[in-house]
Amino acid sequence: MPLRYLVTGGAGFIGSAVVRKLIGETGHEVCVVDKLTYAGNLASDGPAAFIETNVVGTFTLLQEALRHYRALPEARKQGFRFHHISTDEVFGSLGAEGFFREDTAYQPNSPYSASKAASDHLVRAWHHTYGLPVVMTNCSNNYGPYHFPEKLIPLMIINALEGKKLPVYGNGLNVRDWLYVDDHADALLTVATAGKLGESYNIGGHNEKTNLEVVKAICTILDELRPDPAGPRERLISYVTDRPGHDARYAIDAGKIGRELGWTPKQTFETGLRRTVEWYLANPGWWGDIRSGSYRGERLGAA
Ligand SMILES: NC(=O)c1ccc[n+]([C@@H]2O[C@H](COP(=O)([O-])OP(=O)(O)OC[C@H]3O[C@@H](n4cnc5c(N)ncnc54)[C@H](O)[C@@H]3O)[C@@H](O)[C@H]2O)c1
Repeated sequence: MPLRYLVTGGAGFIGSAVVRKLIGETGHEVCVVDKLTYAGNLASDGPAAFIETNVVGTFTLLQEALRHYRALPEARKQGFRFHHISTDEVFGSLGAEGFFREDTAYQPNSPYSASKAASDHLVRAWHHTYGLPVVMTNCSNNYGPYHFPEKLIPLMIINALEGKKLPVYGNGLNVRDWLYVDDHADALLTVATAGKLGESYNIGGHNEKTNLEVVKAICTILDELRPDPAGPRERLISYVTDRPGHDARYAIDAGKIGRELGWTPKQTFETGLRRTVEWYLANPGWWGDIRSGSYRGERLGAA
C-alpha cells in the first residue's frame, strides 16, 4: 500500500538505502530531512555532536511527532508510526560466547552508544507515557554502497586499490556482525509496516567476522578483480594503536524479527562484500570527490 514517509538522515548511508528502496516501489511519498553534515564537518564529529543529534534531536522529533500525531484525524492515527533506528552498541561488549537479544541489559561503553541508548529510552518513554505509536530497531554493523570512506570496509577497499597501508586497530581481533545495507533497509521497512507497537527488534546478518578477516577478504576479492602487479594486497596490512574503549565483540540474535515478521537477510557476507567491492570499483567518482575534500583517508578516532 502506498504510504507517506519522512526519513531523517535520508542522505546518509542507511537512510539513502531506505529512500532508494522506497522510491523503487510504487506510490510512496518520501520526504528527506538531512543536515548534510558529511565531508564538511567530520573532524568536529565528537561527543557533543552525539548528544546534540541523538539525545536533543530525538527529543525534538518525539515532541513534534506527538504534536502531529495528536492533531491527526482518528483514521490516520491508525497508520502513524515513529520508527526509531538504533544500534547493537547500546548493549555493550560480548565475550567469546552469547548474543544480544532484545531483552539484553543496556551497557553502552562509548559516548556514541550512550547517546543512542539515551535516545532509545526516550522513545520507549514517549510510547509508555504519551501513547505515541513507536517501533524500534537495534542493528549490527552495516556495509555496502555509499558507505562513507572513513568506515572500515570502504577505507580498506580504497586504500588497497591505491596501494596504501591498511591500518587495522589493535590486534584486529575485534568481532562485528556485518549486515548488507539493503538487507537492513528491507528489515526497517518490514518493522515500520508490520512491527508491534512499543516493541524493539534486533537486526543482524549472522555474519560474525574479526576485523582482520574482513580486511583479508577484501584483499582476496580485489586481488581477483584488479590484480596488483606488486603482489597480493595482504602485504599492505599494518597494525595501529587501538581505539579507546574499543568493544571486543558484537553479535546479534535476530530470531525475533525472523519468527514474528518473517525477515531474513538475502546477502551472505561473501556475496554482500563482493557486491560492495564491485560498487566501489565502479564508482570512483563518488568516493574520489569525498577524498579530495577535507577527508584524506586517515583512521578517525584513534588514540
Ligand atoms: N552504519 C551502521 O553500521 C549502523 C548500525 C546500526 C545503526 N545505525 C544507525 O543508523 C542511523 C544512520 O546511520 P548511517 O550509518 O547511515 O549514518 P550516516 O552518518 O551515513 O548518515 C546520517 C545522516 O544523518 C544526517 N544528520 C546528522 N545529524 C542530523 C540532524 N541533526 N538533522 C538531520 N539530519 C542529520 C547526516 O547529514 C547524514 O546524512 C544512525 O541513527 C545510526 O546510529 C547505523
